Amino acid sequence: MSAPKYLDGQEVATHNSRESCWIIVHGNVYDVTEFLDEHPGGSKIILKYAGKDATQEYDPIHPPDAITTNLPVNKHLGPVAPNTVKKVEITVTDEEKARQERISNRPPLDEILNLHDFEAIAKQVMAEKAWAYYSSAADDEITNRENHAAYHRLWFRPQILVDVTKVDWSTTILGHRSSMPVYITATALGKLGHPDGELNLTRAAAKHGVIQMIPTLASCSFDEILDAAQPGQVQFFQLYVNKDRDITKRIVQHAEKRGIKGLFITVDAPQLGRREKDMRMKFEADDPSEVRKSGSDGVDRSQGAARAISSFIDPGLKWADLAWFKSITNMPLILKGVQRWEDALKAYDLGLAGVVLSNHGGRQLDFARSGIEVLVEVVTHLKEKRGLSFPNEKFQLFVDGGVRRATDVLKAIALGATAVGVGRPFLYAFSSYGQEGVEKALQILHDEFEMNMRLLGATSIANITPDLVDTSNISSHIAAIPGDRLYEANYESMQHARLREIKPKM
Ligand SMILES: Cc1cc2nc3c(=O)[nH]c(=O)nc-3n(C[C@H](O)[C@H](O)[C@H](O)COP(=O)(O)O)c2cc1C
Repeated sequence: MSAPKYLDGQEVATHNSRESCWIIVHGNVYDVTEFLDEHPGGSKIILKYAGKDATQEYDPIHPPDAITTNLPVNKHLGPVAPNTVKKVEITVTDEEKARQERISNRPPLDEILNLHDFEAIAKQVMAEKAWAYYSSAADDEITNRENHAAYHRLWFRPQILVDVTKVDWSTTILGHRSSMPVYITATALGKLGHPDGELNLTRAAAKHGVIQMIPTLASCSFDEILDAAQPGQVQFFQLYVNKDRDITKRIVQHAEKRGIKGLFITVDAPQLGRREKDMRMKFEADDPSEVRKSGSDGVDRSQGAARAISSFIDPGLKWADLAWFKSITNMPLILKGVQRWEDALKAYDLGLAGVVLSNHGGRQLDFARSGIEVLVEVVTHLKEKRGLSFPNEKFQLFVDGGVRRATDVLKAIALGATAVGVGRPFLYAFSSYGQEGVEKALQILHDEFEMNMRLLGATSIANITPDLVDTSNISSHIAAIPGDRLYEANYESMQHARLREIKPKM
């Protein structure tokens, strides 16, 4: 093989305009001139790095292979000679210095007692943009808060004088062993919170024998996440369906080939919700006159990280398309984001493997009900209409949103769920403490399961039955706020629009 021909950094630096725009990512030069207007995140952010090394900005929000996959091969110009590239000057603001100091003052992990604690620390140590993306929810964030509050309307009816010397909270999910009835649900953009992104979750999941659902919009590449898994480690995949079905087919079949054990198709996001905390971060640009402009594809660039990365999602996805999914894969198909019993029934009738009763962590339709409330009606109606009982091996019910304690999980299991998805708490755990944080979060859940199973008088998951829970208030939407001081102390209120800062005239 002949040695690669290195480009000179100074030459690259001359291609710094809309007319000719080259960028460097991971030591390679790419001509992105023709791609500028197609970039889902808009052209402005690329132009900011025209002629320069864009790796630092690129990494948190793209899988490493995004650029090589999306750009024609003739635009891959080759490696750049490393010592010829001017370092991108990063000015460390006072705000950033203060954040670094807060990071060094994090409490040791053994002082973290519950999942709320991770959120409290994450809020203080995460970069502002990352915190805004992770914590934000749609509109007035009522559903986001309701997701957690709904669990306050369920109360236990524990049984006594059961021998609970040994308790076992392990279970099976879609036929696969899990050390607890919890899985790590799909959340996009892991590298916003930590340089190792989703790999923190993969590695911690392996140590604790839990299942990770890999998101379509992971910051690490799909294969990187699979490669980080231990032999035999079970992983699921969350799919956003692309308007271009050939792309979707390729992704799905690749996932199956790599051994993914369940395909969770997200059905609650034909358009991404307006998440105002994230939008206020103006993900792309600092200049307010620029951020309001739309790209040639009509995507409004003023709408935060979420909108910037999701313009490919197909709003035309419909029930009739599910037959096609069945024709292209043998993986179990599960709909993620079902919000009423009628749709759960349709999914059952179509022979799907299950549904996730979820409102996307309150990030989509505000005033969608909580998954736990929907669970109660789904179980009732599927029993009535199809004679089903839950938990059910053939058609499994999952719930996510607002779960912060093992007691929340146990309520969902008692009411018929096979397992529960947890999202933000694991993001906050790795944003604050990396992989060890996620391991600690899982350990906390194990400890909570052990104690609460004993106190409920249940020795196994099979003993967590509906009679253990009083559901009589579940549908009365009068949230008991403030009902949970820990949660409320973390919840960050939304902000009003603010006047622009007026710079003094020189
Ligand atoms: C930062 C963030 C990113 C998310 N990204 C996705 C995604 O890409 N696809 C998806 O189906 N759901 C996504 N979700 C929704 C989660 O899978 C899940 O429904 C939700 O987080 C559960 O609520 P919880 O965060 O209160 O546990 C995301 C949630 C958060 C908080």
